[in-house]
Amino acid sequence: MESITLHVNGQPYTVEVHPDMPLLWVLRDLLGLTGTKYGCGIGQCGACTVHQDGEAIQSCTTPVSEIHDSEITTIEGLGGDNPLQSAWIAESVPQCGYCQPGQIMTAAALLKHNPNPDDEAIDEAMAYNLCRCGTYQRIRRAIHLAAGQSEGSAT
Ligand code: FES
Ligand code: FES
Repeated sequence: MESITLHVNGQPYTVEVHPDMPLLWVLRDLLGLTGTKYGCGIGQCGACTVHQDGEAIQSCTTPVSEIHDSEITTIEGLGGDNPLQSAWIAESVPQCGYCQPGQIMTAAALLKHNPNPDDEAIDEAMAYNLCRCGTYQRIRRAIHLAAGQSEGSAT
């Protein structure tokens, strides 16, 4: 066991953990941030996607000891008024909802790097986030909508 301090959604947390424990377990079981979901546990589905210094990572395959001083952002950290979240509601994207936090976190990282992505860029960025309910078309529409809202609010 080790004492590890990590920064999540702007807050410092110190946890006593085995250094190989996946970040996902720390977020969900130790910090109570259950918005990030467990899907496959082997880096194949994207349900566990969070941001490490603004980049989308899969927290199920990231040992907590690799986080060091980076800033972790989870779906809770988006705050609820992110343009993606309102676009998700406007387009009624979720079906069962299980994959959606991961989808939104990947989309947020995409828009940070590419504020107005075309369909090809969206499909490429979202390729590792699976949705068993098949909401891909609505996800794509919501990302376009959020990109437009962001452009509008920036002027
Ligand atoms: S739970 Fe992490 S990629 Fe599936
Ligand atoms: S909304 Fe059900 S898995 Fe994506």
